Amino acid sequence: MEENIKVLVKEEDIYKRADEMAAQIDKDYAGRTVHMIGVLNGGVFFMCELAKRITIPVTFDFLAISSYGNATESSGNVIIKKNLDQNLEGRDVIVVDDIVDSGRSLGLVHKMLLERHPASLRMVTLLDKPERRVVDVDMYMTGFTIPNEFVVGFGLDYAAKYRNLPYVGVVDESTL
Ligand code: IMP
Ligand code: MG
Repeated sequence: MEENIKVLVKEEDIYKRADEMAAQIDKDYAGRTVHMIGVLNGGVFFMCELAKRITIPVTFDFLAISSYGNATESSGNVIIKKNLDQNLEGRDVIVVDDIVDSGRSLGLVHKMLLERHPASLRMVTLLDKPERRVVDVDMYMTGFTIPNEFVVGFGLDYAAKYRNLPYVGVVDESTL
């Protein structure tokens, strides 16, 4: 299945960047406990990489959202498919997702989670496609800025496949 995919971000580069981002979190949140929220399904892969490298205490929860639309284009309608299990009151929350594209998903997540009164709320993603932004979202950190191309791997899927690739690649759609 990997013949159709051109590597855009190598596995070792993701790990190196995860080292840097985790070190930044350790520094910024020293003496505190980070409550990480993974956005299912795609955000979980990078969430684990960050979590493994963070040395301060970390707790976890998960959220699933869904946007109507076709496979490669998200629409304006975002709904919650799985809510958080724990409350956020007084916690230092970091939301982790795979990519910030139009910004609609994380824009909504940010707004929704702020209403639950966390002590602080920040968002990180592995990837950022700034050319596609429709909703302005304030990102704490992003791993890599990428061009406006549809990517898969490290949590990102095309029609539910390729999430498990250990790198980020571009699908050659003519070969699908
Ligand atoms: P948004 O457009 O920023 O709301 O991103 C919504 C979601 O679309 C992301 O969390 C991803 O799950 C998905 N997405 C956006 N761009 C890509 C891509 O290039 N490949 C795979 N999924 C993507
Ligand atoms: Mg997603």
